Amino acid sequence: MKISGIVKKFSSEISVPSDKSITHRLFIFALASKGRSSIKNPLLGDDTLSTLSIVEKLGAKVERFDNFVSIVGKGLREIDEPLDVLNSGNSGTTMRLLTGFLAAERKGLYVLTGDNSLRSRPMGRVVRPLSNMGANIFSRENFFAPLAIVGNKNGLNGINYDMPISSAQLKSCLILAGLKANSNSIISEPFPSRDHTELFLSYLGTNIKKVENSVYVSPSEDLDSFDLTVPGDPSSAAFFVALAALIPGSKLVVRDVCLNPLRIGYIEVFKRMGAKISLEYDSHSPELVGTILVEGTEKLKATNIFAEEVPKIIDEIPIISVAMALAQGKSEISGALDLRKKECDRIKAIYFNLKNMGVSVLEKEDGLIIEGINDIKPSHIKTFDDHRIAMSFTIAALLADGESSFDNAACCSISFPGFYDKLNYLVKS
Ligand code: S3P
Repeated sequence: MKISGIVKKFSSEISVPSDKSITHRLFIFALASKGRSSIKNPLLGDDTLSTLSIVEKLGAKVERFDNFVSIVGKGLREIDEPLDVLNSGNSGTTMRLLTGFLAAERKGLYVLTGDNSLRSRPMGRVVRPLSNMGANIFSRENFFAPLAIVGNKNGLNGINYDMPISSAQLKSCLILAGLKANSNSIISEPFPSRDHTELFLSYLGTNIKKVENSVYVSPSEDLDSFDLTVPGDPSSAAFFVALAALIPGSKLVVRDVCLNPLRIGYIEVFKRMGAKISLEYDSHSPELVGTILVEGTEKLKATNIFAEEVPKIIDEIPIISVAMALAQGKSEISGALDLRKKECDRIKAIYFNLKNMGVSVLEKEDGLIIEGINDIKPSHIKTFDDHRIAMSFTIAALLADGESSFDNAACCSISFPGFYDKLNYLVKS
């Protein structure tokens, strides 16, 4: 695929695809209920479809309609033993959350696998604490997937666990295991990561309490069935928010977006860089939903990012890095080592592509130092088959003077089916 810069100022009002993290969770929570749940506006991207297909293989009755999915679940503890392996595709959220859910089963064999990228991502972070709770999990050497889980007839014990890293996937995995365990659990993380699991589970009738950076989980009965709408994904909105913020005179309104404070750290970062962004809140049930309004200003300025802020912007660091490349001054990102363990090594991918676009950039073990320039060069973008790298560097390519090419732009469908159509609409408005 080829992209030509330079895009002119635009003025547009858009919506974005529904939230990926929330869709994964609602599919799993519907399985853990015995009634019929209705999930309106779910994201049907490659990753969430992996979760949906596994939920179906575990015995839920799934029906897809125009803008909603209906799921009749099996309850928290009565899922079917699947006839085959469970494929999580490219999705870390699918594999890690379901490993927690399945590890607490008392019978059955569950084998979770994924694509090349997922089979090289760390699973020890979930296997170790689950094994401490009593789970039987077998893996390849160094805890790489496939993971084979054999139900423990005695069930799992609760855990009091200080997570070595902030990770919503790990936290959610242990919360799900804790719901099915024999005793209470306390799960603590160094800095707060996204809390959709905690918010929805307490909304669905479980006894979960969040106190500072700890979650208290009590064993639960089946979840209540529900009828919920998934709001827009703030991580998908981030690409367009950045584009509008970087083009003086542009105006952008993004409606119906999830405005959970632990997901919109990037808006704080862009505001620190001088971007004009405001938020309007519409509803709160159980997630905050509203509108993002952006006005493009003259040059943004550099900023620094430290470990504490990283969990709130973990998926937006690629697009923030693109903004830093066009800002005035030197920006530094630190404490983001886990970025090397995403769908690709994102520190390496950002470094590689920014350097090819003529940016002076330094790769650190846990981040990047980026010296902003006025004009980035077009280049051949290597996506590393990572959706967020592909979309972030599409925005960079639009802002470069000339034509860039991409090795695999199709990977955007992991989280954002129709990304290029939406972008086309936006830049022509
Ligand atoms: C996610 C959590 C994040 C994020 C991923 C989705 C989730 O991963 O990068 O895209 O839905 O819980 P970590 O929590 O492992 O950092």
